[in-house]
Amino acid sequence: MNQSKYFEPEIETLSRQEIESLQLARLQETVKRAANAPYYKKKFEEMGISPNDIKSLADLSKLPFTTKQDMRDNYPFGFLACDKKELVRLHSSSGTTGNPTVICHTKNDIATWANRVARCFYMVGLRNTDVIQNSSGYGMFTGGLGIQAGIEALGAMSIPAAAGNSRRQIKCITDFGTTAIHAIPSYALRLADVFDELGIDPAKDTKLTTFLIGAEPHTEETRRKIEQRFGVKAYNCFGMTEMSGPGVAFECTEQNGMHLWEDSYIIEIVDPQTLEPVAEGEIGEMVLTTLDREGMPLLRYRTRDLTRIIPEACPCGRTHRRIDRIKGRSDDMFIVKGVNIFPMQIEKILMQYPEVGTNYLITIKTENNNDDLIIEVEKGNAPIADPHALCKSITRKLKDELLLTPYVILREKDEIPNAEGKAVRVKDLRSKE
Ligand code: COA
Ligand code: AMP
Ligand code: ZN
Repeated sequence: MNQSKYFEPEIETLSRQEIESLQLARLQETVKRAANAPYYKKKFEEMGISPNDIKSLADLSKLPFTTKQDMRDNYPFGFLACDKKELVRLHSSSGTTGNPTVICHTKNDIATWANRVARCFYMVGLRNTDVIQNSSGYGMFTGGLGIQAGIEALGAMSIPAAAGNSRRQIKCITDFGTTAIHAIPSYALRLADVFDELGIDPAKDTKLTTFLIGAEPHTEETRRKIEQRFGVKAYNCFGMTEMSGPGVAFECTEQNGMHLWEDSYIIEIVDPQTLEPVAEGEIGEMVLTTLDREGMPLLRYRTRDLTRIIPEACPCGRTHRRIDRIKGRSDDMFIVKGVNIFPMQIEKILMQYPEVGTNYLITIKTENNNDDLIIEVEKGNAPIADPHALCKSITRKLKDELLLTPYVILREKDEIPNAEGKAVRVKDLRSKE
């Protein structure tokens, strides 16, 4: 068994100069690869650039930014940089109303991603003797198979419990001796309540030592609450489908910022309006370039997540720079129960119904540690034969679109105030502490 403090000391403790020369070599390779993708090929031609123009890391600024919209517009395979026969897996975001985003992986992509996740787990003290349970949704959610592959790459025992069914989660934890669990922070608190209902004290009656929490913004107070209720250490993990999934950045045992793996990604922090770099340590939008992805390399991807680089060296000795907690978004996406939602998805479904009007209100609130998505929509001009059946039908369509179940409430015409200017209203009443 590896007794080192680091999973891959030769990578995790590289000097800044070594990181940068590795990044340059990988960036040159990545740009060459990207030029095979129909989207980038055309883009490079339009911009008059070629892979040979990348002679230093500063030349990154010559490359185009990539947005979620670019990916939607080139759905599904416009960003594919290899032969389809090299692919072994495809992940996609939810949604049927617009084109979802799609990421395709080669065998090597899956292996490097799994290795990165294993590196994160090792960093917080997990070893092959651990039993790691995953309460993320499997299927297309990258938190499912991504975490799964990471556990296996670490050589620990995996419990692929998947999302939902809290009593069963708890039975797995107690019966199988789960030592670590990957859970969305809001769900961790729900799980604590169910432990209480069952009269089991997770701090005393289980072997849990570690929570891996991510996929949605949360505060230091939420982390401390989870730690206290479970008697564990909880570590923040950041990832996104476009960057493969979990394991992009992860806290070390210092619990002070997430190391972003700079052998796999180049990070830039830019002003979301001007797209110019912000001063070191300032908050801006995180832009990431993949460095080791074969199937779909992405250049300067605008994550829309707002954060900052923590410039100081980390006492743990890892040299890959840390990012701070995600502070917000530069678009209108919000996350409920670990599911990403764009208000436009909701609007598009509502507008399919002539029975409803144009005003609606989206409210997210927490009750008993359960996050609810409530959609109030005004009645329209068309007669409503059966309001209950209408609500049921809208709920069903929204569930298919969003992958979670909202509460739909029909309101009289003047009950929802006119949305002045911006047609969309989102009221997030979740506690921010
Ligand atoms: N993760 C795991 N389970 C969750 C959850 C979450 N984020 N949020 C809620 N649940 C549990 C609920 O507690 C409930 O179980 P319980 O009643 O036994 O306690 C069960 O899932 C169903 O939740 P409910 O709110 O009734 O239904 P829904 O249709 O709205 O649920 C989920 C949808 C939870 C299945 C869906 O939101 C989901 O898959 N979330 C996980 C997304 C994910 O893995 N993201 C990671 C991306 S990296
Ligand atoms: P997905 O593509 O479904 O994995 O969602 C990715 C998005 O989830 C990111 O762009 C963030 O907005 C959010 N996210 C993921 N991890 C975290 C985290 N640790 N803290 C805050 N937000 C997160
Ligand atoms: Zn550290």
